Amino acid sequence: MPENKQHPVFTPFTLPSGLTLKNRVVKAAMEENLAEADLTPSQVLKNLYSEWAKGGCGLIITGNVMVDHLAMTGPGGLALEQKTDITAFAELSRLAQQNDCKIVMQINHPGRQVFKKMGGKALSASDIALNMGKHSHYFAQPKAMDKSEIYDVIARFTHTAQQAEKAGFNGVQIHAAHGYLLAQFLSPLTNKRNDEWGGSLENRARLLREITKSVKAHCSERFSVSVKLNSADFQRGGFEPSDAQAVVDMLSALKVDFVELSGGSYEAPAMQGQTGDERSLAREAYFLEFAKAISEQSNIPIMTTGGISRLEVANKVISSGVALVGIATALAFQPNLVNSWQTQPMHNPLMPRVTFKDKTLAGLATMALVKRQLRRLGEGKHVKANASAIFTIISDQIRAAKLTKRYRKRFAKELN
Ligand SMILES: Cc1cc2nc3c(=O)[nH]c(=O)nc-3n(C[C@H](O)[C@H](O)[C@H](O)COP(=O)(O)O)c2cc1C
Repeated sequence: MPENKQHPVFTPFTLPSGLTLKNRVVKAAMEENLAEADLTPSQVLKNLYSEWAKGGCGLIITGNVMVDHLAMTGPGGLALEQKTDITAFAELSRLAQQNDCKIVMQINHPGRQVFKKMGGKALSASDIALNMGKHSHYFAQPKAMDKSEIYDVIARFTHTAQQAEKAGFNGVQIHAAHGYLLAQFLSPLTNKRNDEWGGSLENRARLLREITKSVKAHCSERFSVSVKLNSADFQRGGFEPSDAQAVVDMLSALKVDFVELSGGSYEAPAMQGQTGDERSLAREAYFLEFAKAISEQSNIPIMTTGGISRLEVANKVISSGVALVGIATALAFQPNLVNSWQTQPMHNPLMPRVTFKDKTLAGLATMALVKRQLRRLGEGKHVKANASAIFTIISDQIRAAKLTKRYRKRFAKELN
């Protein structure tokens, strides 16, 4: 179609696993905090996925789903384990596959990025606590994992992936970015181990490699297994672009279906356009330069996410040789963005702008505004891009406190 030549983002793409996407736009992972008390998808969450499928993107990546119900990124999150009843997950995957859309479940272990108030496990490569300045006390002190805990985590990722396949998902994405457990192993700032799981990059990447191998060995060949990786963690002495290139090569050897490149962590939220060191990011498509360089040097499809909301920019990403373009915030404020671009290529979604000076608070407010919008979409309410940031932060804190209480009550016997 002539339109596709003009807009490379609308061309289909077949991943190495054989999964064909009708276009290059991927709804990137956004944790929604819309689980039921048993940590499975609620009706509101299912409605939200239905909206995205109808809205025209080629692939949906779910918000992160935990592999351990005692290690949660936050209250209201999802967990899928060996014994979980998959009925609600299966319904969600069915709704997300309307309109020829595909769905991949992002699977995650938070490691040390867990709130003290939630209780549960705080594990990491080493016992280095999160440094969030005056906000550090909200996070738990992690314990360095012993070998049996490492093997337990490998088994958990594998079980979650098997359950996702049973529930009808087209694949899983292993979350190794944004400072969560696998990123903690990858980064020399958080991995000070001197056994085979630490030291050289080869060793620091071992946990990610072992999980990838195990998931691929226990799921069918046509099940898509991808990885979300930081192009850098944007902290001095941390995981660098050259490390990312080397890890992509390792993942390519393991026949991973694609790698999504992002960046940053709670400490340095580059995925939100903020960096913790002297490097600055592009105003739009933050990680495009890294993604382009990595795409040129590897034969694995690359996706990049961060700061993309305009068709012109999405087209630029694809034209530069990057296979897939990930969009998160813009698809929260306009789930049918891709359909709109088909008829109005210049259309830009309205998105919130937070101008707080405290960067941690600004990040929190943005996340809260997006999550509130996700909830509104799932509840069938209209988009509200100009909601008050202060009001939203406060109501988000109240909601989080209620959900934390619900979680602590439900799992009281197992929590510390
Ligand atoms: C509310 C919210 C929740 C998020 N949750 C996740 C998540 O669960 N997993 C993940 O990999 N990234 C998560 N992200 C990061 C996005 O996937 C994406 O990398 C980031 O928002 C930058 O893309 P954008 O500029 O299109 O929003 C989240 C972002 C937001 C705003």
